[in-house]
Amino acid sequence: MNLIHLSLITLLLGKNVRDLSTNGNSTNILWHECPIQKHDRQKILQQKGCVIWITGLSGSGKSTIACALSRSLHSRGKLTYILDGDNIRHGLNRDLSFRAEDRSENIRRIGEVAKLLADAGVICITSLISPYQKDRDACRALLPKEDFIEVFLDVPLAVCEARDPKGLYKLARAGMIKGFTGIDDPYEPPCSCEIVLQQIKGSECMSPNNAAEKVISYLEKNGYLRA
Ligand SMILES: *[C@@H]1O[C@H](CO)[C@@H](O)[C@H](O)[C@H]1NC(C)=O
Repeated sequence: MNLIHLSLITLLLGKNVRDLSTNGNSTNILWHECPIQKHDRQKILQQKGCVIWITGLSGSGKSTIACALSRSLHSRGKLTYILDGDNIRHGLNRDLSFRAEDRSENIRRIGEVAKLLADAGVICITSLISPYQKDRDACRALLPKEDFIEVFLDVPLAVCEARDPKGLYKLARAGMIKGFTGIDDPYEPPCSCEIVLQQIKGSECMSPNNAAEKVISYLEKNGYLRA
């Protein structure tokens, strides 16, 4: 398209063509603003949209805690939505494998969905191993500061492996699953996260409800449970 055509189109549309942008492989795209904003949605919901990013080894109890947290917030009249790694791989991310680059893409897409949900005013809870710091940091960077709350479920590998709720550690040790986090693929613990959920000293585990309460008191203290 030459310049004259572009100018003509500009004139016809009454828009500045220079506002069109390119992002990745998407060309000629224009961000459309709507007068109803996050702030307005939050007023209806009486909460602040955010992302609670739960990271930890397989078998550390991420999904259980996500569920307990969702239930507890729901009972207080707060709108939550869980993005669970395994569940999302049944649909949106079913084309992705567990190779490093696909894992990154898995996290990137979930980060983008979480961002949309937070913008909708929802308290979005993600339950993903998300083993690499740089992938988690990339998701954090998508959101306004403070709206990404990283929660490290700090459960030792030996405990997760002893639990082995899905029998995956057994398969990984037998070499039947390659690139399994904690066995032959690294888990990078968060260097600075908002909340650490640790096992209570001794062999007893923190109950899912106790873990949920700890997150909820953080949310309360930081104003997420009001508009
Ligand atoms: C653009 O498309 C090519 C070919 O499909 C792909 O390899 C590349 O990763 C895409 N770029 C981005 C930023 O997504």
